[in-house]
Amino acid sequence: MSYALALERLKARPWQPIELDEPVPVTQLPTPALVLEAAALQRNLLRMQSFQDAHGKGIRPHAKTHKTPIIALKQMQNGAVGVCAAKVSEAAMLVFAGVSDVLVTSPVVSAGKIGVLAELAKHTRELKVVVDSEVGIDMLAAGVADESSIGVLVDVDVSMGRTGMRGAQGVVNLAQRVGEKPNLRFLGVQHYAGQIMHVQNYDERRQRSLETWAGVMPILEALQHAGCEVSIVSGGGTGTYDIDCEVPEITDLQVGSYTVMDREYQMIGASDGREFNDFEIALTIAATAISEPVPGRAMTVDGGFKAFASDTVTPAILDFAGADFRFGGDEHGILLLNKGTQQPVLGEVHRFVTPHCDPTINLHDLYWIEDEDGMIRGAWPVAARGLSW
Ligand SMILES: Cc1ncc(COP(=O)(O)O)c(C=O)c1O
Repeated sequence: MSYALALERLKARPWQPIELDEPVPVTQLPTPALVLEAAALQRNLLRMQSFQDAHGKGIRPHAKTHKTPIIALKQMQNGAVGVCAAKVSEAAMLVFAGVSDVLVTSPVVSAGKIGVLAELAKHTRELKVVVDSEVGIDMLAAGVADESSIGVLVDVDVSMGRTGMRGAQGVVNLAQRVGEKPNLRFLGVQHYAGQIMHVQNYDERRQRSLETWAGVMPILEALQHAGCEVSIVSGGGTGTYDIDCEVPEITDLQVGSYTVMDREYQMIGASDGREFNDFEIALTIAATAISEPVPGRAMTVDGGFKAFASDTVTPAILDFAGADFRFGGDEHGILLLNKGTQQPVLGEVHRFVTPHCDPTINLHDLYWIEDEDGMIRGAWPVAARGLSW
């Protein structure tokens, strides 16, 4: 009953683009507002696709970042081999909107969620899910239809310690168990090392990522030796997009944040030692100056914990010199103004780079779509907002 209700509500969510009756400038948006620059997004999508095309790799972009089928469908049109969803509900949003190849990147061990996967398998060309336990495999095989033929990747852990099976023999056992189930298809492995993505030095990041992938190789050899055919080796992310492409065994990269970028990623350092700006900041938050609590020294804007993710770095203001952001509570941000900088003007709208894009996006209902002339002509629902089950 709870899953039926959750699914019914999910299906009723609007996800399609909305056109505004007339264009408005960013200054007239209901702030705090999530603003997405359409042309920058498109350049990021094409840049990643063409980079990996040139390296003979596929991309399987992670929709956990943007949480909208609109961007997932664009990624597919541009040549992605499929898209990833972190959870079953995120996958459901993508599948019901017509995305034809979706991989769920977290293990699923609840009968209710497997019931949802069984339904999704009927609605899409290709549904895949990772497993990292015998329990999970048995539940999956028992819960989906005999003819469903869900694709299965064994989630492999080398060093992150979040999900995934460690050790070659354990992975082979799981792959063989999948192979014994007539309604499951063993496709290969997933390996994601999230702890490496934000290592703040390119050379160190490179060394650690390649070392971690080297730890996957004995597992692939053991699978081959056991006669388990591996057609997919999926993993990596934005921080290692130009490193993991050198690993011959990898088939596709699960890049997510490159679509819109954020402050945390800007700070990791690119291969030339500068800020990581290989992809553009396509996403900003617009917030309004609403108070000047300490005249000339502090300015308060109408965005706090409910507008910006607060798990990592702080937001960076783009259009006000020498101001440092501090969270001022759920609804407020306080900008500490250093001497000799601009004077605050109440009612003025300022733009901020998001600290961490994924959880920031998840706080908003709509992306306001900004054209190159700075006008907003449309909005896209953050359709999978809050879908974390
Ligand atoms: C399993 C998995 N793959 C890929 C990604 C994408 O990473 P990024 O946003 O760093 O590109 C994530 C992000 O957390 C993830 O959890």
